[in-house]
Amino acid sequence: MHHVTPVTARTSTTAATVTALLSDIAATGTDPLRGGYTRSVYSTAELDLRTWFIDQATKRGLSVETDRNGTIWAWWDTPGGDRSNSLVTGSHLDSVPGGGAFDGPLGVASALVAVDILKAQNPIPARPLAIAVFPEEEGSRFGVACLGSRLMTGAIDPNKARNLRDPDGNTFADIAHANGLDPRYIGKDEQLLGSIGAFVELHVEQGRGLIDLDRPIAIASSILGHGRWRLSIQGQGNHAGTTLMADRKDPMVAASRMVIGIRDAARSQSHARATVGRLQPIPGGTNVIASRVDFWLDVRHPDDATTAALVQTIHNKSQLIAAEEGCTVEMTEESLSPTVHFDIGLQNQLQQALPDAPILDTGAGHDAGVLSPLVPTAMVFVRNPSGVSHSPEEHVLDEDAEIGAQALADALASLMN
Ligand code: GLV
Ligand code: MN
Ligand code: MN
Repeated sequence: MHHVTPVTARTSTTAATVTALLSDIAATGTDPLRGGYTRSVYSTAELDLRTWFIDQATKRGLSVETDRNGTIWAWWDTPGGDRSNSLVTGSHLDSVPGGGAFDGPLGVASALVAVDILKAQNPIPARPLAIAVFPEEEGSRFGVACLGSRLMTGAIDPNKARNLRDPDGNTFADIAHANGLDPRYIGKDEQLLGSIGAFVELHVEQGRGLIDLDRPIAIASSILGHGRWRLSIQGQGNHAGTTLMADRKDPMVAASRMVIGIRDAARSQSHARATVGRLQPIPGGTNVIASRVDFWLDVRHPDDATTAALVQTIHNKSQLIAAEEGCTVEMTEESLSPTVHFDIGLQNQLQQALPDAPILDTGAGHDAGVLSPLVPTAMVFVRNPSGVSHSPEEHVLDEDAEIGAQALADALASLMN
C-alpha cells in the first residue's frame, strides 16, 4: 500500500448520525445544470469528498491508506495489527451525472456510524475492520463501472484500464498519475484480496422493493448481469440546407431508429432492461448533418445467456438499420458483469442478525458484485421512498438512514467473532 497517512489514536467524542454526516457534504458537487450531484472520479468534488472521508476516518482513530488502485481503506486494527480475515464495509463517493445524494455516500456515512456504534460496544475489535471507498463505481468518467474493484480483483486488464479515456480525451493512466497513483502498478491485488474475510456493503435501494414491502431495510440476494456497449455509427457529414433528404447518410437518423429497436427488443424479452442514456453526435451542430454518432447501450437480464442473445439481436438489428440509412455501425463491449448470487452463508448470517429484513434482488451494479466471486460478500439495502435513483429524486428518510447504520453495525457485530 502507498500513501500511508499517519494517524493518532484520537477518537471522536460526539456520536455522529448518518444524516449529519451527509449534511456535511450536501453542498459538495451540486450540479446547477442537471440538478442533484455530479461527482465524477478525481473531479474536485470527488476529491473533496475523499478528503472529508479521510478526515472523518482519522477523527475516529482509523488508519487511512490509499491502495495502488486508488481505493481508500480506513482500518480499525486489532491490537496485534494483523489484517488477515478482516471485515470490510464501505461503498463509493463518485456519482452519475446529476445523481442523487445517497447512491454511494449513504454506504460510506453508514459505515462511519457503524464503526462508532461498534466502538461504543467494544473499543477493541475482535477482527480487523476496514471501511473501503472505491473509485469510479459508476464508470461515469472512464466508461467502466466499478473500475476500482475490477482492478483490485483482476476483472479488468490493467493495460485496458490505463488506456481508458474520459470525455475530454484524458487517459486513466494520466489522471491516476495526476492523483498520486503510479499507473504501472494498478491491477490485481492478491495480498489485499486475500486479507478480506467478508465484505458487507450498505446501499440505498434503487427501486421500489422496500416501498412495496413497507420495510426500512433488506438483505440482498443477487444482482442482475449487466454490460455496456458503445455503438459508433459512421455516416456522411454534410450541409443541412443543401443536402436533399434522399441524398443523406445521416447517422442521427440511424441512431434514432436503433434506440427504438433496442427498446422493442428489450420489451419482447421478459425481465430484460436496455437503456440508451448517452448519445454524442459529431460534430454536433444545428445546421450540420452529423458525420458520426456514438451512443452507449446498457443491457441487463438475470440470465447471462439471455443478455448475450439480446445483445446479439441488437447488434444484428443495428447493422440492418445502418445499411438502410447508408451508414456503417461498429459495436464494442466496454464492460460485462455476470449475474451475481451473493454468498449464501454470509446472507444467512446477516439474516440471523437482522431477522426482520426481507431478501431482495437488484438490477443495480455494485462493487460488492465485482468482489463477490473472490470474497464472501453481502449487501444491505435501505428504503428509498421515491423509488427513483440515478436522479436528484433519489431519497432516504433520516430515520431509515439511522436504522440502516444500526443494521450495518449489528450485521458487522455478528461477524466480529
Ligand atoms: C450502477 O449504479 C449501475 O447499476 O449502473
Ligand atoms: Mn452505487
Ligand atoms: Mn449508481
